[in-house]
Formats: sequence, C-alpha cells, structure tokens
Amino acid sequence: MPYAAFDRRIKIAPSILAADFADFGRECRAIEAQGADWVHVDVMDGHFVPNITFGPQLCAAMRPHVAGVMDVHLMIAPVDPFLEPFARAGADILTIHAEAGPHLDRSLQAIRALGVKPGVSLTPSTPPEAVEYVLDRVDLVLVMTVNPGFGGQSFIDSQLPKIARLREMIGEREIHIQVDGGVTPETAGNCAAMGADVLVAGSAVFKGGSPADAAAYGTSIRALRAAPEAAL
Ligand code: DX5
Ligand code: ZN
Repeated sequence: MPYAAFDRRIKIAPSILAADFADFGRECRAIEAQGADWVHVDVMDGHFVPNITFGPQLCAAMRPHVAGVMDVHLMIAPVDPFLEPFARAGADILTIHAEAGPHLDRSLQAIRALGVKPGVSLTPSTPPEAVEYVLDRVDLVLVMTVNPGFGGQSFIDSQLPKIARLREMIGEREIHIQVDGGVTPETAGNCAAMGADVLVAGSAVFKGGSPADAAAYGTSIRALRAAPEAAL
C-alpha cells in the first residue's frame, strides 16, 4: 500500500497537469526519482470545470509508473458514477468537490467503502464551513488557491485565512490539508504557516525540466520543500 501512515510533515505533490501528456509514465517516474512525495492527478470533465483532461483508463495506465501515493483530484460532476472506476484504476486518495454534487456525505462514504482515502475540495468562493459536518468522513481537505480548470494561474491570497480556519476545525483529527493552485517557493511558506501539509505544484515543478533533464524537477521540488521550512 503506497500510503503508509499519517504525518504532518510537508509533502510535495507535483501536478501532472503540467507534465508532457504524451509521456505520463516517464514523467511520473522522473518526479518520484527527484523527490516527489505524492503524484497529483487532475481529472477534468469540461462541465464542472472549463477544461478536459482524461479519465480512469489513463489513471490505470499510469498506476504502474507511480510507486508512491497516487492522489486523484476529481473536478467532475456528477462524480458518483465514476468513483468505482477511479478506485479500480488504483487511486490511493480520491478527492471530490464539495460543490460538485448534492450529497457530499454519501459520496465520501462511497469512496471509503471502495477502500480509498476520501478527500474533499473547496473552490475559492466556498467557505470552510461547507466541510464542517463531513470532517469525520475525510482524510484530506483540499483548499483550491486558484479557480480550478487550468495550471499556471496566480495564487489567490484570500485563501490563506481559510487554511488557518480549517486547521482549527480539524484539531487533532488525522486529516491532511492540501493546497493546490499557484503554489511556488514564494507562496508555499504562507500555506505551511497556516497549517497546510501537502503542497500541490504543477508549473513550479515541471517548467524548465523534462524526463530527459529531470534534475531541474529535483531543484524545484527542493525549493518548494525548503520554503516552508524557512518560514517556520
Ligand atoms: C487546477 C489543478 C491544479 C493545477 C495546479 O485546476 O487542480 O492541480 O495543476 O497548477 P499550478 O501549480 O500551475 O497552479
Ligand atoms: Zn489539482
């Protein structure tokens, strides 16, 4: 089982949305070899978000190339019919959006019943209280720090107090706080200071590198990891 045990150490989760779509296998192996903790997989449907990426078949094809945690972020609606296919594809974590369906509690239970860790995500306009009554159902809360749909957008600072509020609400529960969108060495420190422990980064990891020149990925991953340590 790639997901070992809960801890609050900073984890870097490169988003393959910024990788070479024709070369996902090599890209996954390259980022893990360069120190990525989790591999973040962005699934988009052209309906819940204004962009389309890929579905469960591609996740299944990628799975043998990911030795660690495959962290799947579903930006799709409806989501319920696709939970089982993504679980079968080998996701370790399945994160769904609080805004994507009417029965969040039921969907989160369905993920757990499939033997996968449930996560819940909030877009920038959704208040932290939207997850108040499902916290006992999740292993991860994802705070979107851009509007979902595209990589390479600017970090939305208004989300920092939301991270802090969620950290208070979570208390002693073993729940990760993940941030996703515009995370760079400049913004990562504040996210960690507010209580985030999983930093998703697309552009900040993949720009300037390639599977053939993967050392650049390592440099970027180390810069992201060092930023929160410097801020603490
Ligand atoms: C956006 C995705 C993010 C995105 C982050 O909808 O959920 O994971 O890839 O990309 P950057 O790090 O470039 O903002
Ligand atoms: Zn994402």
